[in-house]
Amino acid sequence: MHGVLTKQTANAIEVKGLTKRFGGFTAVDKISFDVRDGEIFGLLGPNGAGKTTTISMLSTIISQTSGSAHIYGHDAFTEKDAVRASIGIVFQDPSLDDELTGRENLDLHGRLYGMPDRERKEVIGKVLRLVELEDKAGAQVKGYSGGMKRRLEIARGFMHKPKVLFLDEPTIGLDPQTRRRLWDYIHDLNRKEHVTIILTTHYMEEADALCDRIAIIDHGKIIKLDTPDRLKDSLGGDLVRLGVEKRGRARLIASIRKAKISKRIRETDEGIDITVANGGRSLPGIMDAAKATKVHVDYATVKRPTLEDVFINLTGKQIREEAGAAGGLRGLMLRRR
Ligand SMILES: Nc1ncnc2c1ncn2[C@@H]1O[C@H](COP(=O)(O)OP(=O)(O)O)[C@@H](O)[C@H]1O
Ligand SMILES: [Mg+2]
Repeated sequence: MHGVLTKQTANAIEVKGLTKRFGGFTAVDKISFDVRDGEIFGLLGPNGAGKTTTISMLSTIISQTSGSAHIYGHDAFTEKDAVRASIGIVFQDPSLDDELTGRENLDLHGRLYGMPDRERKEVIGKVLRLVELEDKAGAQVKGYSGGMKRRLEIARGFMHKPKVLFLDEPTIGLDPQTRRRLWDYIHDLNRKEHVTIILTTHYMEEADALCDRIAIIDHGKIIKLDTPDRLKDSLGGDLVRLGVEKRGRARLIASIRKAKISKRIRETDEGIDITVANGGRSLPGIMDAAKATKVHVDYATVKRPTLEDVFINLTGKQIREEAGAAGGLRGLMLRRR
């Protein structure tokens, strides 16, 4: 008789009560979460939330103040070598040698990992194909665009075939089009090469587009963890936004209330926001209410909630990127509502 192997849905990462203090300042505050084998897991939060600090602990770069973290069963703080062998990291700040070619950068990395010549050559060919950089591999990195550099770094992080790949702000500072292409590469890497990915980002759309599950993090704490869809559904429906002149608003709100279309109505700078279960179905009734009260509606939009809305709902503030001066694209501004 031979045994039956039951395939368990293993956790790639298990984090319990993980805390990091710098002096008297708590950067990461008792966070707990699991990352499942094969998923793309996102840490989403504003600048200073503690994302890089968390990733740095999980990838054995810094020690914890308290709590635990395991990568495929290995302790990130006492079994660093075992953990390092099974992870790849792409740092928030670029770490390529500009003077070397793309291929030379990868070759250097392979040597650092002690890969034999033949294997190194093979792997380099493969990862270059993965990120479609074969044509540019012989050129010095200083001539690469921002997107190409990022792709090369991801290729490098994946060279030793890690089980888990950490990507810290993978598309920071890139233009939207390049960002989208990078999402495709990250997605393909996950689905085709079966690598578990944990990424950090402050881009709501990035987390939404890529992640199977998202932990929203603010001030070192996880304030919510779920799939993108469930996070958005938690707001309880679509948002119908009406552009209405100030003097008609109170009358229209009363009329919508009376028609029992929604109880969740609020006045905004431009008009009225109404939360309904289904925007398309509620809109005719809302327009009827406007007609009956003779209030003119300038425009009406129906919007599925975004993760930005979720964040605002949870924290009362929004994440907004400031197009900073002189390459300071990393500046983020938190605005109070
Ligand atoms: N080595 C350090 N010494 C002191 N404070 C630090 C250090 N590293 C990070 N911090 C602080 O911890 C907080 C979280 O930083 P970080 O993890 O880099 O946030 P994020 O990656 O989410 O932008 C910030 O307030 C930052 O200034
Ligand atoms: Mg960071």
